[in-house]
Amino acid sequence: MKGVTVWFTGLSGSGKSTLAEALEKELRRRDCNVEILDGDIVRTNLSKGLGFSKEDRDINIRRIGFVCDLLTRNGVVAIAAAISPYQAIRDENRKMIGEFVEVYCECPLEVLAERDVKGLYKKAMAGEIKNFTGVSDPYEAPEQPEVTIHSGSEPQETSLQRILRTLELMGYIPPDPDAAQIPPEEEEEIREKLKRLGHL
Ligand code: ADX
Repeated sequence: MKGVTVWFTGLSGSGKSTLAEALEKELRRRDCNVEILDGDIVRTNLSKGLGFSKEDRDINIRRIGFVCDLLTRNGVVAIAAAISPYQAIRDENRKMIGEFVEVYCECPLEVLAERDVKGLYKKAMAGEIKNFTGVSDPYEAPEQPEVTIHSGSEPQETSLQRILRTLELMGYIPPDPDAAQIPPEEEEEIREKLKRLGHL
């Protein structure tokens, strides 16, 4: 099977890891080879010692891209889940890997700060964590992501189905005849977007 990198980008707490895991589970059920490269985990080994300056983030994202490229070449669905705040480095990975699907996890800052699962936004807003993405450090939203999900306002299942359908239409994963049908308007929207991006 053709490999692909599914690249999740979005602010901390925007649902990247949770969606990545849900996607992994579903893809394994469909007999795909899958690996996740999660920023939080990568930073405990491959990127251990790196901080959150622009330079360190760029190194982190290039390393994740490098591994995703190796996996993608070997027929794996490589799932990256890292904030990856800079468009230029995401694009660099896109160019290198070729088979690349960018998933933007959009969520308003107010919702993230309100949820604050890790308690980091409170600290960042109080100035206790410097250079915190979205609060005191930049986040460049993707200009032309293949998929946008709205984790503040739609159920996770809806987001997951949108990603799966995109991967099916792009020919990366086999369609599942048993899967729930997505609403026709949604199907139309996905097809339109992929056509606009030149993928269909
Ligand atoms: S990235 O910018 O290099 O892509 P990455 O996804 O690996 O970031 O790591 C982000 C995680 O590190 C966040 O979810 C959060 O738990 C933690 N973190 C600690 N400090 C910061 C910071 N200054 N900015 C963003 N995230 C931070």
